[in-house]
Amino acid sequence: MSGELSPIDKAKFVAAKKATDYVEDGMRVGLGTGSTAAWLVRCLGELVRDEGLRIKGVPTSTRTAQLAKEVGIEVVSLDEARWLDVTIDGADEFDSELNLIKGGGGALLQEKIVATASDQMVVIADVGKEVETLGTFPLPVEVIPFGWKTTQALIEETLVSMDVLGRSSTLRMNNDSPYMTDEGNHILDLHLNRIGDARQLAMVLNQMPGVVENGLFIDICDAVVVGYGDGRVEVRDINAGTIEESLLDFAESDNLFADLVD
Ligand code: 5RP
Repeated sequence: MSGELSPIDKAKFVAAKKATDYVEDGMRVGLGTGSTAAWLVRCLGELVRDEGLRIKGVPTSTRTAQLAKEVGIEVVSLDEARWLDVTIDGADEFDSELNLIKGGGGALLQEKIVATASDQMVVIADVGKEVETLGTFPLPVEVIPFGWKTTQALIEETLVSMDVLGRSSTLRMNNDSPYMTDEGNHILDLHLNRIGDARQLAMVLNQMPGVVENGLFIDICDAVVVGYGDGRVEVRDINAGTIEESLLDFAESDNLFADLVD
């Protein structure tokens, strides 16, 4: 069954599967959003159903909440959980210091709040997400709908003095309407091509009145689990300075693939 997955999906799957090692019985777990995080939720659901793992999951979007409930994970709000043991989420880009661009799936605000409220944030990603310098992936910025064009103009003007290569931006659309986040906001995607100083840019963007949050995750991620299409995984821990490699067996997870394909 795993033969039906593309190499990128296999890479996402093995990263997600390996990341379940971070989850122990009784933990409160932040559940990310996106296709890689969806694999994680399915893998955790399997552990809940088949091995009696007891966890409370705090989803970072309505999509993830729905999937988590479907696979049997107990879902609680962040306010109920208050603080989390670990958050596991995907990313659009990560660099060698484990700084991230997130928000390709439009959930960056809840993702940042949840990750920041966790003892540890673990990113799961296929190796294609690794970059030397952040910025090839358009940087998502969540803005309130009121005056969004003014906010966009202000952002583009401010980018003139920032260490970036491009400064155009586009309003994210959902068919013919502006994309709406779970909080009812819009997203501007900034086409920067290269972000020379991600920390400075993140701070400057968040000082603008119409900006709710930006997709740069600086000093939030503790470890990244990198998946490859042939089943290899690398766990890079920035605090311990370690890199561990292993190989995952797809055959063990045939049930998950079957659930997905059916
Ligand atoms: C959602 C995100 C996702 O984690 C990011 O877009 C990666 O998605 P995928 O795992 O589908 O490649 O930040 O807001």
